[in-house]
Amino acid sequence: MKLSDNKATLSFSNGSPSIDLPVYQGSVGPDVVDIRKLYGQTGMFTYDPGFLSTASCQSTITYIDGDKGELLYRGYPIEQLATNCDFLETCHLLLYANLPNAAEKEDFTRRVAHHTMVNEQMQFFMRGFRRDAHPMAIMTGLVGALSAFYHDSTDINNPEHREIAALRLIAKMPTLVSMAYKYSMGQPYMYPKNNLSYAGNFLHMMFATPCEDYSVNPVIERALDRIFVLHADHEQNASTSTVRLCGSSGTNPFAAVAAGVACLWGPAHGGANEACLNMLEEIQQTGGIAKVGQFMEQVKDKNSGVKLMGFGHRVYKNYDPRAKLMQETCKEVLTALGLENDPLFKLAMALEKIALEDDYFVSRKLYPNVDFYSGIVQRAIGIPVNMFTGVFALARTVGWIAQLNEMISDPEYKIGRPRQLFSGSVKRDVLPLAQR
Ligand code: CMC
Repeated sequence: MKLSDNKATLSFSNGSPSIDLPVYQGSVGPDVVDIRKLYGQTGMFTYDPGFLSTASCQSTITYIDGDKGELLYRGYPIEQLATNCDFLETCHLLLYANLPNAAEKEDFTRRVAHHTMVNEQMQFFMRGFRRDAHPMAIMTGLVGALSAFYHDSTDINNPEHREIAALRLIAKMPTLVSMAYKYSMGQPYMYPKNNLSYAGNFLHMMFATPCEDYSVNPVIERALDRIFVLHADHEQNASTSTVRLCGSSGTNPFAAVAAGVACLWGPAHGGANEACLNMLEEIQQTGGIAKVGQFMEQVKDKNSGVKLMGFGHRVYKNYDPRAKLMQETCKEVLTALGLENDPLFKLAMALEKIALEDDYFVSRKLYPNVDFYSGIVQRAIGIPVNMFTGVFALARTVGWIAQLNEMISDPEYKIGRPRQLFSGSVKRDVLPLAQR
């Protein structure tokens, strides 16, 4: 963070003295006005619900240029990473700031693979859930429970603990997500197979059974790996900020990541892929492409409460670069599986075409986001709709952990504690019950 020659001056119309605020420059992107001393100097807070104009931290991990539609992990464009690197290389990059060479990749893969099993006791914990529980409800519980099973890596201030917790979380998420799936199906859990790739192992744990041989389809394996790469991190989004805020109290990494899982579940965030597929299915059932126009009218009617799920983004005011890559993967997977004529894919393309030409969406700069096509890919792979957000959580875990570790290592880090503009009742006396 570099101090800029530029300075901000804040003046007040009531005659209070104006104050100078330092301005800092990042390596790229908007400068920031440092308001840390504002309260001390003026007795005032800033007001920014939803953090529309607030940088909550300094970070070196992920950069998004929302106007250009650009996403960089540690400086590398997402398009190049998605084409040239697999998910574990991406994890290495996010965690350690460099793309691994061949030896580092082998070592990192081995260290992750070493942790893929979960404590055998975990399955008894699982049994407490109803079979029809939502997988994200189960995931929130399971990830939080990891701190009870791996109590030797819960000291967030100990770099070794943080390192082991990171490896454990990345390694065990596929195991936990597939356990949640198998439990809902009433099928036996499949143990991880460490000679498979990260994505291949997840497919094996999801879809293999003990009674038949299962071979991983390489097209699906590649597609899933790409879904993981595209979802691995996305700077200070709601769930990542939740993980940082939760971790800022000094709680353990498993608890902080469980908070991230809970936040991700919401339909405005990670739950959008599930909501998007449900939306497509509903349009399909009520008339398909012929009803798209009518549906769009509802979306544009503010009183209807209907949103075009998978569209719009707080940061991207251009096409989400992940959506382009996901659309490409979607075509590849559907072709490989002989589903080129998938009606939901056709419906999604039709909706996208209308939206990109419609003034409502154009004027608000609403473009497809990553979730618009990821649901169709996952459905084609055979992942049930209610598991989609669990897959997102699996992929985002590395981002959460990288951001959490970055925060803990930052000398400027403090417990997160926002302030408020209080508009409730001023001080008043409690009346005895008979007089209220
Ligand atoms: N359909 C219809 N209108 C929309 C949509 C949409 N999907 N998204 C935004 N708008 C409208 C919104 O009503 C507002 O209109 P107006 O200016 O007339 O009041 C305008 O566009 C600006 O939207 P906003 O709600 O102020 O934008 P935001 O930054 O607060 O919200 C968002 C961003 C992602 C929550 C929102 O676009 C949305 O709800 N999209 C649908 C859910 C979705 O796909 N979420 C996935 C996000 S990407 C994956 C992830 O990172 O989790």
